[in-house]
Amino acid sequence: MVKILFGIALMGLCALVPLPVALAAGEAVTSSDAKASALVMERCILCHDTRRICESLGRKGKDGWDKTVTRMIGKGAPVGPEQKQLIVDWLWILPEGSAPVCPEGQ
Ligand code: HEC
Repeated sequence: MVKILFGIALMGLCALVPLPVALAAGEAVTSSDAKASALVMERCILCHDTRRICESLGRKGKDGWDKTVTRMIGKGAPVGPEQKQLIVDWLWILPEGSAPVCPEGQ
């Protein structure tokens, strides 16, 4: 009897565990996207507006964005190495025309 109860408790545990893990992973993705978006909208508009970035959305690969952001840092963009990674990881998967980089109605 004790064994059966133990078995049921174990099954219950197994069913419960994946849910919080999945939720935590989802949150991590959302918050790094939010950070990247905030960084671009704050640091990448110091010399030109986001239209310049918008024009390249969906056209550059990850390497292309890496090169561009590295060049921007060379020009003086105030972006650290971790921030650069966040920005590149976010920009290269954004489809053409995505807000907030692209103004609405494009
Ligand atoms: C210090 C000034 C400055 C900052 C800050 C800056 N840029 Fe630029 N950016 C430029 C200049 C100047 C050009 C045009 C000359 C060139 O392309 O090298 C340019 C051009 C671009 C282009 C078009 C050319 C290409 O290679 O596609 C993109 C895209 C771009 N910037 C993205 C960004 C992003 C993303 C950020 C934020 C990480 C950023 N810029 C921050 C100065 C800046």
